[in-house]
Amino acid sequence: MSESRRLSSPAVEWHAHADESAWIEACVRTIAEGLARDLEQHPQALLLLSGGGTPVPVYRALAREPLAWSRVVVSLVDERWTPPDSPGNNARLLRETLLTGHAAEAELWPLAIPDMSIDDAVRLANRRLDATRLPLAAVVLGIGGDGHTASLFPGASNLDSALASTEAYVAIDASGCPGAGDWPQRISLTPAGLAAADTRLLLLRGGDKRAVFERAQAGDDIAELPVRAVLAPAGASSPLQVHWCP
Ligand code: 6PG
Repeated sequence: MSESRRLSSPAVEWHAHADESAWIEACVRTIAEGLARDLEQHPQALLLLSGGGTPVPVYRALAREPLAWSRVVVSLVDERWTPPDSPGNNARLLRETLLTGHAAEAELWPLAIPDMSIDDAVRLANRRLDATRLPLAAVVLGIGGDGHTASLFPGASNLDSALASTEAYVAIDASGCPGAGDWPQRISLTPAGLAAADTRLLLLRGGDKRAVFERAQAGDDIAELPVRAVLAPAGASSPLQVHWCP
């Protein structure tokens, strides 16, 4: 049985690429096609992106795509509760990697708002999503070595309520979760928020993360490996497109 067939399912499309260049090209093409499709039918489209290091070369390449970026709103899958100019801030990462070149014309909706409490920032993010009714063209996810995605960390004190939430965004307290690094207070999309996307991508590289992904596919305890929440979510309109390279 081919690798692709072994790792694919009705809920997951596994794409293994020979090298970084092919991986970047496939991810950029998938995101660009998702945006172009929604922009054909709507005045604007929304793109929600994760932080971390893995997607950075994809964001830099995506910035060079000649899309109607002035009609694209970019926001975040999740955010560390840090000041906008903090090195760990995901909105800052997007400003430095994606919102350059053609993509500089896109509008950015940050999640961490100075002088606002995290709960008020979550309420603002949910209200903004509800009010605008923008089509969610694509979400780009990563995976941590602990099996988290977005900021849904195993062991987070409010993980269960986040997984059950009908809201798009929630605040996450990941205190004591090694995967959260120096930023335990987070805002994250929930499985409900993630399922609403027309195109859902999971980007990973290397053998270690592939092993975590395969472990996730082999079980169903979402609290153990929260990435399982996006493998076959209720309400998802399309398979999760998983792009891997060595
Ligand atoms: C974050 C990210 C997070 C990320 C994974 C993988 O804010 O930390 O959104 O979910 O996707 O932690 O991070 P790397 O790509 O750096 O391994």
